[in-house]
Amino acid sequence: MTQYRECDSSHSSYYYLCQILNLMENFTQKFYLILAFFTLSADLRNGAEVQAWTYHYSTEPSREWNSARQWCRQHYTDMVAIQNQKEIEYLNNILPRNPTYYWIGIRKLGDVWIWIGTNKTLTKECENWAAGEPNNGGRQEDCVEIYIKRESETAKWNNEKCSKKKGTLCYRASCDLGSCGARGECLETIGNYSCLCQPGFKGPRCEEAEECGTLEAPVQGSLQCLDMYGHFRFNSSCAFSCALGFKLTGTQCLHCQATGRWTSEPPSCQAVKCPDVLSAPKQGRMYCTDPFETHSFNSTCEFTCNEGFQLSGSSEILCDSGGMWTGTVPSCKVVECGAIMPPSQGRVICDDLHQTFSFGTSCHFSCEEGYSLDGDATVNCTSSGNWTAGVPACKVVKCHALVTPSHASLHCQHPVEDFGYSSTCWLGCEVGFDLIGQNSTYCTSLGSWSHNLPVCKARQCKILTAPPHGILTCSHPHGEFSFNSSCDVSCEEGFLINGTSTTRCNSMETWTETTAHCQVVKCDVPSIPHHASLHCQHPIEEFSYSSTCWLECDDGFMPKGANSTQCTAEGSWSHSLPLCEVVKCPVAGAPSHGSMHCQHPIEEFSYSSSCWMECEEGFILRGANSTQCTAEGTWSHTTPLCEAQRCASLSAPPHGNLTCSHPHGEFSFNSSCDVNCDEGFQLNGMATTRCSSLGKWTETTADCQVVKCPVAGAPSHGSMHCQHPIEEFSYSSSCWIECEEGFILRGANSTQCTAEGTWSHSTPLCEAQPCASLSAPPHGNLTCSHPHGEFSFNSSCDVSCDEGFQLNGMVTTRCSSLGKWTETTAHCQGDSLPYTTTASPLLTSYVTYNHLYIQLKKNTA
Ligand SMILES: *[C@@H]1O[C@H](CO)[C@@H](O)[C@H](O)[C@H]1NC(C)=O
Ligand SMILES: *[C@@H]1O[C@H](CO)[C@@H](O)[C@H](O)[C@H]1NC(C)=O
Ligand SMILES: *[C@@H]1O[C@H](CO)[C@@H](O)[C@H](O)[C@H]1NC(C)=O
Ligand SMILES: *[C@@H]1O[C@H](CO)[C@@H](O)[C@H](O)[C@H]1NC(C)=O
Ligand SMILES: *[C@@H]1O[C@H](CO)[C@@H](O)[C@H](O)[C@H]1NC(C)=O
Repeated sequence: MTQYRECDSSHSSYYYLCQILNLMENFTQKFYLILAFFTLSADLRNGAEVQAWTYHYSTEPSREWNSARQWCRQHYTDMVAIQNQKEIEYLNNILPRNPTYYWIGIRKLGDVWIWIGTNKTLTKECENWAAGEPNNGGRQEDCVEIYIKRESETAKWNNEKCSKKKGTLCYRASCDLGSCGARGECLETIGNYSCLCQPGFKGPRCEEAEECGTLEAPVQGSLQCLDMYGHFRFNSSCAFSCALGFKLTGTQCLHCQATGRWTSEPPSCQAVKCPDVLSAPKQGRMYCTDPFETHSFNSTCEFTCNEGFQLSGSSEILCDSGGMWTGTVPSCKVVECGAIMPPSQGRVICDDLHQTFSFGTSCHFSCEEGYSLDGDATVNCTSSGNWTAGVPACKVVKCHALVTPSHASLHCQHPVEDFGYSSTCWLGCEVGFDLIGQNSTYCTSLGSWSHNLPVCKARQCKILTAPPHGILTCSHPHGEFSFNSSCDVSCEEGFLINGTSTTRCNSMETWTETTAHCQVVKCDVPSIPHHASLHCQHPIEEFSYSSTCWLECDDGFMPKGANSTQCTAEGSWSHSLPLCEVVKCPVAGAPSHGSMHCQHPIEEFSYSSSCWMECEEGFILRGANSTQCTAEGTWSHTTPLCEAQRCASLSAPPHGNLTCSHPHGEFSFNSSCDVNCDEGFQLNGMATTRCSSLGKWTETTADCQVVKCPVAGAPSHGSMHCQHPIEEFSYSSSCWIECEEGFILRGANSTQCTAEGTWSHSTPLCEAQPCASLSAPPHGNLTCSHPHGEFSFNSSCDVSCDEGFQLNGMVTTRCSSLGKWTETTAHCQGDSLPYTTTASPLLTSYVTYNHLYIQLKKNTA
């Protein structure tokens, strides 16, 4: 068990240093008590416990220092040693005052004060001595007490003899063996503990190893690791290696340290280098490819020669995995062509670039005067070892062959070759042609003639032009208007030639004839018809070709045929002039129901005719009453109409219809209308009326009145109710009759007013309901009253008995509305005589029949 002493909190940096120092010193020990958070058991004398750091004390009995510590270690963890200002205050507050004070866990051993928990020297910063203490080292005051609740120097330390008896002050720690596993140390904290991990471990219980970060195999290399606490964690070791042709740069092995860092940066693999000795050959080039680095493993160098040179040696070398080139640099040699000789009649001169007759050599050829090269004048030796062309030949120079020009003759001399170098020619012209130019020429050494050949030109006449209204047509065999040209004159349409039409140019440069003229064609002067005048246009001359004349007729007259004519090229008129005829109007007629009369100054219904119209009686004229025939052949007014005189429109009266005839249109002159009345209605007024010639009706329109029936009434003892669709008790009125109670209807129960003004049925009767006839009983009298007839509804009868007889039954009986007696008839009885009676079956059945009859009538009504 180790205690840890904390200094006063006002010197927290020192205090922290103490803590760290103690931690480092006691690394291998099991427990640390760092923080003085403490709880004081309320029940210390009983030794009650709580978790975490707890304080326990005992004052009974007082103990010597050694037995006090023994008691603490026996019952708790150890004697209190941890002290800081807070702890001191706390203990001073909580603990009871003990006159002998309390022992704490500091002791002097070998003349130094040490913590008994840690066996460590008390340092200056951690001391808490009372003033003047420790004061008596010579007297074996080797133990330390704390002045709890002292008046002065409260809670400060004092050294005392260890054999003195004082209060015991203990603590209990909360750490135990399993608290922090195998990789951590348990530290007391406020009410708890925390784990201080061994270097290389972390986590609340130090179960996790530190991570150094993932390593990856280098490019072109590999990685192999040995793990103690997981991949790339504390104490993992990794070894790197490189592929063939590569070598490692950096540290080969890395170790994951407790700090979570690798011992060094990971290495890389670099390609093996070859010696840097290569260069391009003379007249050649080198091209290297380096997949990794310049001139290193797998670098390839290719060699090529310049144009005209050939490679001698290997064209490619490689850097192998051992850092050596596979070959040496090749060389470049010039390409050669064959030797050259000069042509006959010529010479050759050559220039060399590298060697005689090799790549770059150029040879030039030339010929003697009058000869020229046939082939290339210069040839070159190419990179393929061939000359650009063969050796040329020297040939004699030629001029172009001469052709005899037209109208000429040619003579030549050829000393070397036909039309070749030094040939000479002469030329002459035909009759009518003149020579223009030099008459001889020769072929020069340049292959051209010394002079152009001369030409033979035809002789020229003066230029001719066409006469007015004429056309000149010429043929020129040897040039315009020159020797042998011939010209013809022709005239335009409407013109005639005057003179010789053809002329020719002769070798004396004159025309054989003078040019002819053109004269216009003439027409006769035309004669003018009646009712007309003439207008003409003469573009050329009066009444000649292309003159045009128009005939114009007077007003109301029209030309009969084409009214214009032209003078043709033949000298005749295109049309003969027409006559002027009077304009006609359509033949007019009288309107229907009208008459017409006319006047015709010129011809019937033609220009200037006039007509007048009139209408018959009963008709009126609609439109103009006269019309004239105009110069355009139309009438000045359209034919008018004769319309029938109109009367007012009529309509049918209520409950009637109207039948009309209209000979000249609806409701107009001579229309006639008849009025007819519907069934149940009769005419009031004249049935027929007519429209007169003055537009008035002869009669006013009649009307229709409903047919009436006599006023009907209810029968006695009955009631009546009626419906009158038109008027009271008139056509189509209906009435129904009913009888009072006790009366039966005799006759029809309804009646209608007919179109003839009579009722369909006569008024019925209400008869009283009959009861059976009664007669006086034996030995009695019957006295009756009959208000509505014998033994019928409301009849009442009384029976009275003779003397010596007694009435048996009711005195009075009455006929009911149903035709029954209210009582059976009473009997008159002798004093002790028995008596029986029977009802009349005949009477009963009659009543029944009557009742049935009434029922049936009601149902059928
Ligand atoms: C404490 O230290 C002394 C001397 O330094 C030594 O003799 C003694 O054995 C130690 N005690 C313990 C418990 O380590
Ligand atoms: C005590 O500490 C441990 C470990 O640090 C922790 O798991 C636990 O929750 C703590 N207990 C209390 C009461 O704080
Ligand atoms: C880490 O590895 C080293 C060497 O292998 C060994 O000495 C040491 O004990 C290891 N540490 C732990 C905590 O395992
Ligand atoms: C080197 O070159 C050889 C042949 O071209 C090839 O097979 C090989 O893969 C190359 N090495 C590397 C590491 O690229
Ligand atoms: C006009 O009335 C008469 C009498 O009611 C009838 O006979 C005739 O058919 C009716 N005419 C027309 C066109 O309704």
